[in-house]
Amino acid sequence: MTTTDKDRVLIFDTTLRDGEQSPGATMTHDEKLEIAEMLDDMGVDIIEAGFPIASEGDFRAVSEIAKRSKQSVICGLARAQLPDIDRCWEAVKHAERPRIHTFIGTSPLHRAIPNLTMDEMADRIHETVTHARNLTDNVQWSPMDATRTEWDYLKRVVEIAISAGATTINIPDTVGYTAPRESADLIRRLIAEVPGADEVVFATHCHNDLGMATANALAAVEGGARQIECTINGLGERAGNTALEEVVMALRTRGDIMPYDTGVDTRKIMQISRRVATVSGFPVQFNKAIVGKNAFAHESGIHQDGMLKNAETFEIMRPEDVGLAATNLVMGKHSGRAALRAKLKDLGVEVGDNQLKDLFVRFKDLADRKKEVYDEDILALVTATTTDG
Ligand code: KIV
Ligand code: ZN
Repeated sequence: MTTTDKDRVLIFDTTLRDGEQSPGATMTHDEKLEIAEMLDDMGVDIIEAGFPIASEGDFRAVSEIAKRSKQSVICGLARAQLPDIDRCWEAVKHAERPRIHTFIGTSPLHRAIPNLTMDEMADRIHETVTHARNLTDNVQWSPMDATRTEWDYLKRVVEIAISAGATTINIPDTVGYTAPRESADLIRRLIAEVPGADEVVFATHCHNDLGMATANALAAVEGGARQIECTINGLGERAGNTALEEVVMALRTRGDIMPYDTGVDTRKIMQISRRVATVSGFPVQFNKAIVGKNAFAHESGIHQDGMLKNAETFEIMRPEDVGLAATNLVMGKHSGRAALRAKLKDLGVEVGDNQLKDLFVRFKDLADRKKEVYDEDILALVTATTTDG
């Protein structure tokens, strides 16, 4: 299959909105501008830059990101209230390609909060989406907690939003409740049964409460969604959102069974992951898929030996494709002689067979006492074997 046979999936990044809603992840104005520039530069299709009515700071950040945007659509979030939508528009209107994203909670639990009847909520959706559409022709609408909304009501309100002019319908799994098969079926059914569904883009927005956000997002794409909402490092409320790097690399690596392309330059993933970790103050767990410190690291002798012979033995992605210089063969007590020889070569040290034998014994002894043996430790061992021997 060639690239042109593949369907395009839009990547909507909400690190600066849903990601920043993580308790403690607040970023400064300048940090937000920097992250937005990196997202734009790496080919993210839509950047949700903030929630303009939430604070003066958010309004200023969204406005400035909109002014500086180059290729990405710049989106702001607004509740289903006219002043929210107006404020959002005031901020995003500076972008070359602005979008208003308006939402309301449609599940029984969420409907109880504004105390609206089903009919009153339906009217509110019609009024607010129409209002947004009068401001811009790029309007996204979300029924918050869609996956716990009654099917008949969900179908009804999605149809209303489309008839009022929404161009993207996002189906949020707000509390990470759905499972992959259900996620695919829900989108598939909406597209099949809602009048006008084929005129709009369906989006998936998954939270990770049960650790299924990436699987659910990819399943939604199988069901017909063509926009994935996600964040860098999976940052987001509670257990976070779908991680951008995971869905993008899954689509890239498994194009054989998921024939969809994104416009993301994956070589920029590592750099933005590290920057988001720093500015949000949320370190990335070591074994996090794609961007964790250990995602391309190997310690066991069998794995290191395999990697030295053919990297495909234990890696399904190339480190350079996510912006890493190389695989990391970590020297520790599980490492074998082949890895030690390769490490010495990397360090520019030439040793004969006898010295290697001696070094390996000393290395294993040290590795038993230390979690990781660093380059400096190995160089010190080389000096010791030369002096002692
Ligand atoms: O999780 C959610 O439902 C949201 C909406 C505002 C789209 O973030
Ligand atoms: Zn969310």
